[in-house]
Amino acid sequence: MSGTAVTVPAIRARKRRDGATPIVMVTAYDEPGARIVSDAGVDIVLVGDSVANTVLGYEDPLHVDIGVMAHHVAAVARAKPRCLILGDMPWMSYHLSTDDAVRNAATLIRAGAHAVKLEGGRARLPVVEAIIRAEIPVMGHLGLTPQSVLAMGGFRVQAKSVDAAGALLGAAKALTEAGCFAFVIEGVPDVVGAAVTEAVPVPTIGIGAGPSTDGQVLVFHDLLGLGSAPPPKFVRQYAALGRLATEAVAAFAEDVRRGDFPSDDESYHGSAELGDSLS
Ligand code: KIV
Repeated sequence: MSGTAVTVPAIRARKRRDGATPIVMVTAYDEPGARIVSDAGVDIVLVGDSVANTVLGYEDPLHVDIGVMAHHVAAVARAKPRCLILGDMPWMSYHLSTDDAVRNAATLIRAGAHAVKLEGGRARLPVVEAIIRAEIPVMGHLGLTPQSVLAMGGFRVQAKSVDAAGALLGAAKALTEAGCFAFVIEGVPDVVGAAVTEAVPVPTIGIGAGPSTDGQVLVFHDLLGLGSAPPPKFVRQYAALGRLATEAVAAFAEDVRRGDFPSDDESYHGSAELGDSLS
């Protein structure tokens, strides 16, 4: 990617079937993470509600509200990444009324996001339309929608039946007509990922949706090996930073306990006169 910022219209135009290169999206939740993701040339940095389970120690994303998400969007924005900053709308920030949803989307934009993402199918059409009417670009999220973990009975692959796949396809078309500029398609069979990608004129960004989508997204902590549990099947782990970090901290602890830290070079030195006056 060049040094120029990525825009919503530029992402909307990135269909692979039209010859575009696949879109790369990675999550980040703070300034160092956003800097790494931007320096790596990623297109979209998603400040995901996965912050709940990757960073804050919860088991699912239902525990973060709009204030927490705005806090993390602002931290990412302070890194001034060259990526598009996508703010994830948390559970209950767009479920009560369209007015409430527009206000909450605006909170993420004022915190530094360039667009918002929200989960769900046809039930979200009024909210998506209202947010877009307020000039805020919306990315949809279909398939395995983590905010529905209780209703789904766990994080399970979705759209496995012909009926469910047809419903997902219909929802993708309806949300596209409502104005979504792209979709995350999560946790569905590869053929469903391919069919949705074929059916809509805007890009699809897959996570556990096979190789045919217009882009791929992974969670920062999963791809870098920073998670506490083994990652799901769809994750390719590119580094084992958790192990490296533990080894580094253990080496520091050993140096301190052996009296090897700090060294003379790592200490500030006062004048002889200062030393004399203190002895
Ligand atoms: O919050 C998140 O990290 C997400 C991705 C899984 C797409 O929504």
